[in-house]
Amino acid sequence: MHRTHTCGELRLTDKDQKVTLSGWVQRSRDKGGMLWIDLRDRYGITQLFFEEGKTEASILETARSVGREYVIKATGKVIERFSKNDNLPTGDIEIQVETLEILNASKTPPFTIEDESDGGDDLRMQWRYLDLRRNPLRNNLMLRHRMGIETRKYLDSMQFMEIETPYLIKSTPEGARDFVVPSRMNPGQFYALPQSPQTFKQILMVAGYDRYYQIVRCFRDEDLRADRQPEFTQIDCEMAFVEQEDILNTFEGLVRHLFKTVKGVDIAEVPRMTYDEAMRLYGSDKPDVRFDMAFQDLNALMKGKGFAIFDGAETVLGIVAAGCASYTRKQVDELTDWVKRPQIGAKGLVYCMCNEDGTYKSSVDKFYSQEDWQQIASQTGANKGDLILILSGELHSTRKQLGELRLLMGSRLGLRNPEVFKPLWVVDFPLVEWIEEEKRWFAMHHPFTAPKPEHFSLLETSPGDARANAYDFVLNGVEIGGGSIRIHDRNIQSKMFNLLGFTPEEAQKQFGFLLNAFEYGAPPHGGIAFGFDRFCALFGGADNIRDFIAFPKNNSGRDVMIDAPGTIDQKQLDELSIGLQIKS
Ligand code: AMO
Repeated sequence: MHRTHTCGELRLTDKDQKVTLSGWVQRSRDKGGMLWIDLRDRYGITQLFFEEGKTEASILETARSVGREYVIKATGKVIERFSKNDNLPTGDIEIQVETLEILNASKTPPFTIEDESDGGDDLRMQWRYLDLRRNPLRNNLMLRHRMGIETRKYLDSMQFMEIETPYLIKSTPEGARDFVVPSRMNPGQFYALPQSPQTFKQILMVAGYDRYYQIVRCFRDEDLRADRQPEFTQIDCEMAFVEQEDILNTFEGLVRHLFKTVKGVDIAEVPRMTYDEAMRLYGSDKPDVRFDMAFQDLNALMKGKGFAIFDGAETVLGIVAAGCASYTRKQVDELTDWVKRPQIGAKGLVYCMCNEDGTYKSSVDKFYSQEDWQQIASQTGANKGDLILILSGELHSTRKQLGELRLLMGSRLGLRNPEVFKPLWVVDFPLVEWIEEEKRWFAMHHPFTAPKPEHFSLLETSPGDARANAYDFVLNGVEIGGGSIRIHDRNIQSKMFNLLGFTPEEAQKQFGFLLNAFEYGAPPHGGIAFGFDRFCALFGGADNIRDFIAFPKNNSGRDVMIDAPGTIDQKQLDELSIGLQIKS
């Protein structure tokens, strides 16, 4: 028998029991006559104790020979520790070892297997199995496991059925590039890996499975960021015979259940904000509402005072950073440089310090009097000691830039505590957006999203003004989920494809299966998908989803542990009928 207990299990109440434990050597301490080994497994750490005179000499010798990460098996008696360790659940006891066996040796790991490892990112990714032995990663995967279990429990209790959909499909347009897989049996043809099961779940609605879900892998060939992986997981859901309200309530229930069961947090009703309001107040469709610092419209107060930049700008917007009037010249210059970086793209930054003595000091004192600032301060609610930060320019980009600055100031002021959770529904997204480079309309969510019935006529006159029953679930400024009420009428779907620039033939070729299905009794339906990795990362208080995925890709989309992607040999290429194209 390899073990009677795990390394996280034994307590003082087990005293005098004879036990066998197996695990990895975390560390050992040799004090001459006495030797201790910390034995680790997934459940915890238990201390093994060896003593000259009491422990057989050959066992002691074996104990002295083991190195870090050796796999060993020890049998002995549970005894009370002389000096207890309050930081360990097993810290009151140790095992007085009688027999010891080395099950496997280990090379010295390339980094320490400790909570704070000395390994850099690349090294830890390459030896992922060693990294996964560390507590922080193990805790993340445990959290992920719990989230999955609780998601299934909740959805099952609400009559949802988990149904698998295929991975070898043809392209579903979700706005990213497809990963493709050549088909050996169909030379020159390719499958696409699903960017999401969108069309399949809609077809399941037509098939009568009116509450579907799936915890499912999705594949998107897009540039990676901290919250993006080329393969990631969704909690994908769809419901028939529902309106937006039903969906929001059902999934607010899921969110509440997860918070309660996994984090022990009670979530009040999730507030809702329209897309237009989110853009106007926070310059983002995923505002972080853990703090306010809402945008202030300064057009009326700041235009017409002779400051040409503001006078010529489409908009002038400001935020108030509480308590920052004490910023030094260097600090505001640094903020100005920050907004001028290409990633943000502002032309400049105007600021005004609301001094404690009631005076104002701004970067544009030439154009604005103390009375002007007094008015601005009173409109924006800026108090003595606050700093007003102002950007101007074209509406959309100014909002975006100020939104970024708002987040930076929020972080600096400590207003973005990862242990505080502020969920939000953003609703009434535009149906389509105009992409100038492509000179055509693109679906804001995806082409299957229905316009609000009252906006239907706008499709012909001004599509950009049409709003959809489309919604995002936002948590602490991160888009965790998104969905919509779908089109379930063939003619409307055809109109939509037409608006998006598909000819009827192209639409039929690419989505004929869905359009056809709509002719066989498609019920009204809608759904949502949550980014499971992002949800887990947020619950774990992290920004990067990588450490919540057992085997993620690095920033270049590579799995450095298995060294993928890699080349394949000519024979395989030939079989797939792509050899000729690759051969130089
Ligand atoms: P959407 O494209 O908004 O909607 O995706 C849903 C959620 O998936 C997460 N997500 C990602 N997570 C990690 N890495 C990525 N590359 C990545 N891309 C997206 C986000 C996002 O909110 N079929 C629709 C859903 C529906 O309409 O029901 C869809 O896929 O958290």
